[in-house]
Amino acid sequence: MDKKRFNLVIILTSAALLGIILMQAYWVMDAFKLKESQFEHRVKLALKSVVDEMMLTQPDSIRENNSGCGMSCESGMIVFDDCVKPRVLDSLINLEFKQLDVDRAFYYGVINKTSHQISFGNYGNYGEQLFTSVHSISLSCLYRPEIHVLVVYFPDQSLIIWNELLGWLIISAILLLLLIGGFSYSVISLMKQKKLGEMKSDFVNNMTHEFKTPISTISLASEMLLNPSVAGDIEKTHRYANIIQSENARLRKQVEQVLQIAVLDKGEFSLKQRQIDVHKVIEHLIKNFSIVVKKRRGEIKMELSAKNSIIVADKDHLSNVIMNLLDNAEKYSHCAPLITVRTWNAEKGIVIGVEDQGIGISPENQKQIFKNLYRVPTGNVHNVKGFGIGLYYSKTIVEAHKGTITLQSEPKQGSRFEVYLPFYQIESDEQERQK
Ligand SMILES: Nc1ncnc2c1ncn2[C@@H]1O[C@H](COP(=O)(O)OP(=O)(O)OP(=O)(O)O)[C@@H](O)[C@H]1O
Ligand SMILES: [Mg+2]
Repeated sequence: MDKKRFNLVIILTSAALLGIILMQAYWVMDAFKLKESQFEHRVKLALKSVVDEMMLTQPDSIRENNSGCGMSCESGMIVFDDCVKPRVLDSLINLEFKQLDVDRAFYYGVINKTSHQISFGNYGNYGEQLFTSVHSISLSCLYRPEIHVLVVYFPDQSLIIWNELLGWLIISAILLLLLIGGFSYSVISLMKQKKLGEMKSDFVNNMTHEFKTPISTISLASEMLLNPSVAGDIEKTHRYANIIQSENARLRKQVEQVLQIAVLDKGEFSLKQRQIDVHKVIEHLIKNFSIVVKKRRGEIKMELSAKNSIIVADKDHLSNVIMNLLDNAEKYSHCAPLITVRTWNAEKGIVIGVEDQGIGISPENQKQIFKNLYRVPTGNVHNVKGFGIGLYYSKTIVEAHKGTITLQSEPKQGSRFEVYLPFYQIESDEQERQK
């Protein structure tokens, strides 16, 4: 998938996900409003019930007509003070609200609309709120001017309603989180796959290029050897044969490098562990490597101060690891390379440090360089040749020896790689011998 289409798919899917989240939020708000109106309806029913009950009472003043407050209302004779008694109202309200499942903390009062005052009630500090509450019922007779109104106020009405929606809210939140998590995971994996694809194609291009040079040199040199004018000249024959030999060695080294990676990936490499002296390995490598450094007018220093430099390790693999670090220190120094190799003893092991004053590595790339095929991006051109395998190989080998490889670097200042290798294998060997 090309980059533009990939980005478009990501943008569209993110927009769809955002749309789903917004719609979900809209539905939750809608459900809240529905629950709110259901609640209001339940309170209204409870209030109506309270008033109906109250109208059935028979105060003394109208007992002579043998009718209740309701009947007298029909005849237009209701006497408010006789029919609406605070004590009766209080017990009726408490009873009704309990039955209708709205027995949360509530406050009520009977307000007089003409005088704008509260006649009586149980309203605590919420007197003001009674005048704005939506839960009210008229205590005046039908078709008569509304004077007395019974009002109820719930201080935590929103909380009551959210509580009723809690189950749905939790399920919605979990589903949304799952959706967002799944989506993010898929996008991240897709991006990683894409990056890996790009790195692999870079690697193949790079490898083809690297192989082409020795192949064409060998082909040219062998053509020259076949040339009759050269055939009799021993010196020239020697020179071309040497070229073929060294280019062939270079090719073999590259092929081995590429094959190593396949072996590492499958985890099929085996360590031939023996007691080795790390200092001797380093000295031997540096003896050959210093020629390369000197050619570039550089310098390589050794400060081998570890008192105990004997460990149990695979000599060939360990030499490759140190060689990779030396090779990088030289390759990634644009001016004359200044390299220092140090050793010292750490707790139960030895540390090998390779330091250069080269181009350094930015913090975001420091996390990536140990990954297979990763090379610090330098635009479209890579002036320094390489496959991006060296550090991945080194890390895998060091970890197989139960060691660690760390890096400290600053762009344009240089880099310091430190390989820690434990002695513990010696200890376990000794333990085995003692047994
Ligand atoms: N000492 C260093 N200074 C600056 N950058 C470095 C150094 N060592 C490694 N890097 C960066 O880390 C990347 C990965 O290094 P690694 O050795 O794995 O691969 P490579 O050198 O590109 O190729 P090869 O597989 O041939 O070693 C390099 O491409 C380079 O960008
Ligand atoms: Mg390298």
